[in-house]
Amino acid sequence: MALGDRALRYDLVHAAASILTTVDRIAVRQSGPLEGTVPISGAKNSVLKLMAATALAPGEFLLHNVPDIADVTWMGELLTTMGMTVERPAPGDLRIVHDGTLVPEAPYELVERMRASIVVLGPLLARYGRARVALPGGDDFGPRPIDMHLRGLEELGASFEFAHGYIEARADQLTGARVLLEFPSVGATENVLLAAVLAKGTTVIDNAAREPEIADLASFLNRMGARVLGAGSSTIQVDGVEQLAPVEHTVIPDRVEAATFLAALGVAGGELLLAGARHDHMDMYAAKLGEMGMRISPDSEGIWAMSTRRLRAVDVSTLPYPGLATDYKPLFVAMLATADGVGIVTENLFAGRFRYVDELVRMGADIRTEGHHAVVRGRPLLSGAPVRAPDIRAGAALVVAALKAEGETIVGDAHHIARGYERFVEKLRAIGADVRAC
Ligand code: EPU
Repeated sequence: MALGDRALRYDLVHAAASILTTVDRIAVRQSGPLEGTVPISGAKNSVLKLMAATALAPGEFLLHNVPDIADVTWMGELLTTMGMTVERPAPGDLRIVHDGTLVPEAPYELVERMRASIVVLGPLLARYGRARVALPGGDDFGPRPIDMHLRGLEELGASFEFAHGYIEARADQLTGARVLLEFPSVGATENVLLAAVLAKGTTVIDNAAREPEIADLASFLNRMGARVLGAGSSTIQVDGVEQLAPVEHTVIPDRVEAATFLAALGVAGGELLLAGARHDHMDMYAAKLGEMGMRISPDSEGIWAMSTRRLRAVDVSTLPYPGLATDYKPLFVAMLATADGVGIVTENLFAGRFRYVDELVRMGADIRTEGHHAVVRGRPLLSGAPVRAPDIRAGAALVVAALKAEGETIVGDAHHIARGYERFVEKLRAIGADVRAC
C-alpha cells in the first residue's frame, strides 16, 4: 500500500489536531481563587511509548484514557505511514490495528516534529530485524543525543549505519545482554526494553530510569505476553519471548498536567480536586509544594489541594525520578516569581532549559540565571505582557505565572502547549481562571 493511502486512514485523529493547532494564542488575566474539579488526562509520555509498542504484535489494540493532544496525533501519523490504522472510536479511546506487514521506517518530517518518535527504533528492530529512522536533532532544551539508546541496542546485537540523516539499523537476531546505562535516560530505557521483550534470552537493564511511565509501559508489555520484572526500579530484567499479542490498556494519569494545575492553584489560591491524578506518582512535588505553604493530600478520587496564602520561596533541584522532574522546573520558576523570598532552581538534566526565563522577565519577574541555576526573587505581582511559549512545559508555566500578573498577558506560540495539554484553556476556565484562546 502506498504511503499516501495509509495517511488517508488517519482522518479522524488528524481532524482533532488541526483544531488544536489553530489556537495559537492564549490571553490570561489575573485570577483566583480557583475552585472545583479538574479531570486529569492520560499521560503523554506514557501513551506515546505504548503506541510505539503496538509495532511488536499484529492485531487490534485498544487504549483508554488517551489525551487528545497534538503529540498523540503525530505519533498516530507515524504509525499510519508505517502501515497501521489508527482511529478514535470514542473520546479518550484509541484503536490501533495492523496486520504485521509494516514499513519499518520513521521519516524525518515526523521525527523532527516529535523527538519521542525515536522510540519506534527498539520495537521495529525487535520485530522486523531492521529499521530506518531519521536522526532527531537538538531542540529548544539544547542538544539531545541518543547515544545511550544506540549503545544499549548494540549490546543486544544491533548494528547501525548513518547515511543522509537516517539511522539504518539491523539485527538478524537480538540476544539478551546486560545493558548498563550511563545515566537513567527515560528514552534509552524504553528503547532497550521494547527491543529486549522479543530478544533471545535474558536482558538486564541496570541504572534504568524509574519513571511511572516506564512501569506503565512494562505493565502493557506484560499484558501482551512479555516477561518484564522490576520496572519502576533501577534494575529491569526482561526474559525474551517468541511472540506477543495485542491488548486493551488504560493509560496512567499525566503527572505533569496534574503538577501544572497544582502550580496554578499555588499562584492563584483556592481549592481543587484533581480527579484521577496519582499522588504516589508525584509525592516529591507535593512535598515541595507543602514546604511552600500549600496543603495537598491523596483523595479517593485523585488529589485534593488548597492554597490560602502567598507561597514561600524554596530551593529546587531537578533529578531523574523519584527526584523532582525537569518537567516541573518551569512551574517552580513561575511559582517562585511571585512567592515570598528568594529561591534557587538548579537544572540537572537539560542544559538549555531556561529559555522561558527571558519571557518571565518581560512580565516583570526578577530572575537571574547562571549556568544551570536560576535565582528567583519573588515579587507580589507581575505585569501582563505579550510573551512566547518556547516549549510545552514552559508555555504552560507562562500561563500559570500570568494568573498573578496585573493586566493581560498574551502567550503566543500556544501550539506548543497543545502538544501536551488536553483542553488546557477549557479546564482552566472551568475552575474560574480568566483565560481564553484568541
Ligand atoms: N541523554 C543522553 N544520551 C541519550 C539519551 C539521553 O545524553 O542517549 C541525556 C539527555 O540529553 C538529557 C538526559 O540524558 O540530558 C535525560 O534525557 P532522557 O533520555 O531521560 O529524556 P527523554 O526520554 O528524551 C523524556 C520525556 C521528557 C522529560 C525527560 C526527563 C518523553 C517523550 N519525554 O525525554 O518530557 O523531560 O524524559 O524526564 O517521554 C515533555 O514532556 O515536555 C518532555 C520534554
